[in-house]
Amino acid sequence: MRYLTFALAKGRLADQTMELFEKIGMPCEEMKEKSRKLIFTNEELGLKFFLSKASDVPTYVEHGAADIGIVGKDTILEEGRNLYELLDLGLGKCKMMVAGPESAKEKLERSHHLRVATKYPKIATDYFYKVKHQTVEIIKLNGSVELAPIVGLSDVIVDIVETGSTLRENGLMVLEDICPLSARVVVNRVSMKMEHERITDIIDKIRALTEGENK
Ligand code: PRP
Repeated sequence: MRYLTFALAKGRLADQTMELFEKIGMPCEEMKEKSRKLIFTNEELGLKFFLSKASDVPTYVEHGAADIGIVGKDTILEEGRNLYELLDLGLGKCKMMVAGPESAKEKLERSHHLRVATKYPKIATDYFYKVKHQTVEIIKLNGSVELAPIVGLSDVIVDIVETGSTLRENGLMVLEDICPLSARVVVNRVSMKMEHERITDIIDKIRALTEGENK
């Protein structure tokens, strides 16, 4: 039997995913030990799990280095890879928003010279150009994006809002709602054909479990 390989976005999402996999009878004991290892196996079931940076998960899956990936919808939208998105796990729910100081509200409606800071330039571009038909300047940052409007680098930001406390504590507010986000299961297109039975069996088990838990 060929290994079925999973790419997981390392961090909290990988831990939650492994809890879920354990519940459907796909445990990986090796992964519970604290270490710097990146690849883990379940020899009995022919499964391999590896941990990568979230933004690299779609790359591994598109190229077939992993058959299945578990990653946030934000990363899927930003990376724009050729993948099957099969299931919403309902984990890590949050939203992609346009946010800024109250004073940016009017500018957001009218200005054609809006400066938008974000870690997600593709999502921001798609939203402003394709949805709002508005020409803006996108400024790419790598984190703590909320700083940008405060120090005058941008008018607004496009970022993830979960509890809203980062915005509140920095005197910013949600101005527009772009889309809801959560963790998704993505599958390589060739793997979906070659390993159809094993993959759909796993997806069905996850679906049954998550639907049961959400009732
Ligand atoms: C994320 C996001 C927001 C914050 C939102 O940042 O970019 O800054 O969490 O969460 P909240 O609504 O619950 O406050 P992250 O913690 O990943 O850090 P970063 O901005 O440095 O990337």
